[in-house]
Amino acid sequence: MSEATPRVAIVTGAARGIGAATAKRLAADGFAVAVLDLDESTTKDTVAEIEAAGGRALGVGADVSDAEQVQAAVDRIAAELGAPVVLVNNAGVTRDNMLFKMTEVDWDVVMNVHLRGSFLMTRACQKYMVDAKWGRVVNLSSVSALGNRGQANYSTAKAGLQGFTKTLAIELGKFGVTANAIAPGFIQTEMTKATAERMGIPFDDFVKGAASQIPVARVGQPEDIAHLVSFFVSEGAGFVSGQVVYAAGGPKA
Ligand SMILES: NC(=O)c1ccc[n+]([C@@H]2O[C@H](COP(=O)([O-])OP(=O)(O)OC[C@H]3O[C@@H](n4cnc5c(N)ncnc54)[C@H](O)[C@@H]3O)[C@@H](O)[C@H]2O)c1
Repeated sequence: MSEATPRVAIVTGAARGIGAATAKRLAADGFAVAVLDLDESTTKDTVAEIEAAGGRALGVGADVSDAEQVQAAVDRIAAELGAPVVLVNNAGVTRDNMLFKMTEVDWDVVMNVHLRGSFLMTRACQKYMVDAKWGRVVNLSSVSALGNRGQANYSTAKAGLQGFTKTLAIELGKFGVTANAIAPGFIQTEMTKATAERMGIPFDDFVKGAASQIPVARVGQPEDIAHLVSFFVSEGAGFVSGQVVYAAGGPKA
């Protein structure tokens, strides 16, 4: 990779949390980064931090579950930054509820953002990777893929992403494209803060309680996941594909 023509990476849901940390890490690794989130205005802090550190970034607004918005966003990124050959499907939402209380909307929203969104984004980007005969896809799964009370929708979507990842690895491998999934445990972000609020537990207590169950005796930070993304998209990781790495501070979810 020459400094004049950096490879282009797209990180979805990159306005905050794991996505923002990943966008900043990939920019530091030398990628030009499209910081994609629902509303372009929310991406400005991540973009500004990347630029302040000397990197190249483009803020893009799109709903990953909307086919037209996805195509328009990927077209714009290809025109303004260059061909996207790295895609991190990170955008996510939770709509937790026990099964008997879960609405069809709760189910559909979660499926649409995680599964439809990752499908649409990957379908729109794969041709650039195939043309370049090089590409990297990283999908954000979760320890919830193994089952989690109150998350019938989310755990299904996160398990589904593992199957999606493995099929991408099989279909795209001969074009120099790898696909891998990261299944984080508890990461300290707005998503886990919202969970604590829903449960009526102060976030500090929620974090301390979670840390007490984790072998490394702390919860994860967005940078912990960004580090693993950095590995998967690196040049040297070309023989690692179709894998799911649980990043949870210990062997169990
Ligand atoms: N925080 C955790 O403990 C944890 C654990 C396992 C997996 N994950 C997964 O990691 C990813 C990032 O989680 P986070 O904790 O940083 O969450 P977060 O809620 O802090 O950030 C998610 C981002 O995704 C964006 N987003 C939501 N719907 C979108 C859509 N339709 N189109 C575009 N962007 C959209 C949001 O606006 C937000 O900026 C998610 O896929 C999540 O499921 C998180």
